[in-house]
Amino acid sequence: MAHTIIIFGASGDLTSRKLVPALYELFRKKRLPEGARVVGFSRTKFSHDAWREKLAESTARFVGEDFDADTWRHFAPSILYQSGNAEAAEDYAALRDFLDEIEGDQETTRVYHLAVAPPLYETVIARLGEAGLAKEDRGPRRVVIEKPFGTDLDSARELNRHVHEVFDERQIYRIDHYLGKETVQNVLVLRFANSIFEPIWNRNYIDHVQITAAEDLLVGHRAAYYESAGVLRDMFQNHLLQLMTFTAMEAPARFDADAVRDEKVKVLRSVRVMEPGEVHTDTIRGQYCKYRDEPGAPEDSETATFGAIKLHIENWRWQGVPFLLRSGKAMSCRTTQIVIQFRPAPHMMFDAGPRSAFEANRLVIQLQPAEGIQLQFQTKVPDAGMKFRMTDLHFTFREEFAGRMPEAYQRLLLDVMHGDASLFSRADEVELAWSIIDPIQRGWERPDGPPLELYEAGGWGPPNAVEWMCRQNREWFDSCPVLK
Ligand code: BG6
Repeated sequence: MAHTIIIFGASGDLTSRKLVPALYELFRKKRLPEGARVVGFSRTKFSHDAWREKLAESTARFVGEDFDADTWRHFAPSILYQSGNAEAAEDYAALRDFLDEIEGDQETTRVYHLAVAPPLYETVIARLGEAGLAKEDRGPRRVVIEKPFGTDLDSARELNRHVHEVFDERQIYRIDHYLGKETVQNVLVLRFANSIFEPIWNRNYIDHVQITAAEDLLVGHRAAYYESAGVLRDMFQNHLLQLMTFTAMEAPARFDADAVRDEKVKVLRSVRVMEPGEVHTDTIRGQYCKYRDEPGAPEDSETATFGAIKLHIENWRWQGVPFLLRSGKAMSCRTTQIVIQFRPAPHMMFDAGPRSAFEANRLVIQLQPAEGIQLQFQTKVPDAGMKFRMTDLHFTFREEFAGRMPEAYQRLLLDVMHGDASLFSRADEVELAWSIIDPIQRGWERPDGPPLELYEAGGWGPPNAVEWMCRQNREWFDSCPVLK
């Protein structure tokens, strides 16, 4: 089957930074289906050649040392361009004619990738429908929608309703690029392709789970967007909740789109939705000190660039085990990690001092950078009486496997072409995620909401976040990052 990937918003940042480099990499690794074409669609006027030249330069920059000019020369003829206004019906008719012309009579899978600004999603989808571009008369038609999918539950529902007027759910691929990361998929492999973790992966052995996505970057030139999002919409509703569902879900019977997503949805349905009072006790919000100086950020901005929230999954496996999720900009370093904090040994027969008794086993899944896994346990210090300290067993992808970790989009784009939606969010999943985040966002926006604490760049967020953990008799695992 032939494939055409049509990118809406082709002159934008996502296309040059992520999509085309990923397609090029798939081509270089001979994984792109034979004869696949890429058609750019956006308002700027380009000839095919002018667009190819622009992409050659950006792809070389973003792919880095794996870019090979000769390979690009072979790939470039499959890149085409059709200019058009995303809002103009006649431009979609022209696009349809252009696609019919290049595809001829060949049955073709078409992938419409919406790399446009989110307010345009509904328009592009409606126009695709009106132009007959969603009809599957000559091969599958699929649509890829980037995040954010809505800005709250109501807008996500509304967007789902619009998309479903044109496409069936099985044709829709909602992207969360975290699911394209190898290390995130490896959470499923760790849990469900090994037998030793399952017996202890529950409330009997686990005290709590910490999921941290820390970034050392500042918001910078993205402040205009970030003001309307804030950390909850930008990182929690999508990426962090995805990581939580992978950590908490039951084993699906098969690795297929519905089996996997059914289990994730069950987790989201079991999350206790926060009451207004709990927003005060179970969340922390912060803003880094210089955020208000960022170009585009108002002087009196109340937007949170740091958040920590405590969620409870009310089912047999997780009753009483809090999931502590945290994310922030301007932190000490870039690290994304899932920490499974086990309970301490039930009885300490050694006179090891309070600290050691408190330090229980930990499994650290380091998603990025220095991807790997570390298991921490107590060991006797030799020749020091009965003194012991935390030591570890670890594994890193870099030491174990050759080659670089692929960018998330490579896997995701290939899955769309193959029609595998396992690593994409389903309509009910996105809506449930919003229904967890909305009450917190609303609580944060109320005048009597939890205080917005300022924090210095280069640390671990507001001091209050540390005290909050202390009050729970717990401690953040702040390590930068734990594996090298
Ligand atoms: C994006 C957010 O979805 O994810 C950004 O909009 C954030 O604010 C980024 O920086 C983090 O992605 P990654 O892959 O660098 O962890």
